[in-house]
Amino acid sequence: MRKIVIAGNWKMYKTQREASEFLQKFLPELEQTPEEREVILCAPFTDLGVMSKSLHGSRVQLGAQNVHWEDEGAYTGEISGFMLLEIGVRYVIVGHSERRQYFGETDETVNLRLKAVQRHGLTPILCVGESKQQRDAGETERIISTQLQKDLVDIDQQNLIIAYEPIWAIGTGDTCEAMEANRVIGVIRSQLQNRDVSIQYGGSVKPNLIDELMAQPEIDGVLVGGASLDPAGFARIVNYK
Ligand code: PGA
Repeated sequence: MRKIVIAGNWKMYKTQREASEFLQKFLPELEQTPEEREVILCAPFTDLGVMSKSLHGSRVQLGAQNVHWEDEGAYTGEISGFMLLEIGVRYVIVGHSERRQYFGETDETVNLRLKAVQRHGLTPILCVGESKQQRDAGETERIISTQLQKDLVDIDQQNLIIAYEPIWAIGTGDTCEAMEANRVIGVIRSQLQNRDVSIQYGGSVKPNLIDELMAQPEIDGVLVGGASLDPAGFARIVNYK
């Protein structure tokens, strides 16, 4: 069954103190949130330990924003799946366009990370999406198909979330129209072996747009950057109507 998944991606925002302040305001807002919605916060590594304690017994799951593919070793600056698992992380974002753009992430390393996430019993949130230039050239479908083909080699589609994140919509305020996001997500779904994979939309999701996005039949949730930093705003997104 397709699960509804609402995830915040804090990127490189919030110290431990700020994360705790956020949770104090955010958690009480979830009392009426329907049970079947999975709510995830993907926080910086330094916040995960303290958040794991505060989230104990709450309905919010913890996510990381990256993971290395080896279990341990001489990889200065990296974090392994074991380390995340031990502190209670359940989800890991893999292949975000910012990592592809600024940190040399390729479809090959995305695939290695996806395998590592699954090997540790965690669930990956795989991000795919086209740039403005690619969209203007009519290449959206081709780019996304290539990403899916390469990223998903030997990946278990029973334990996977995908986020359609058009790069031109991320952090720009230029949200993809709900119907167009729905269409592309339908294209993504048609290329999967498991049609029940939850597929999110991400890119300038705001509280005032959430109801329309979630009304679309193919959209199973959202991956939210900027708007997940504000507890009231993110609560409104989680409690969409
Ligand atoms: P945004 O980021 O909501 O700030 O556009 C989304 C993302 O990068 O996942």
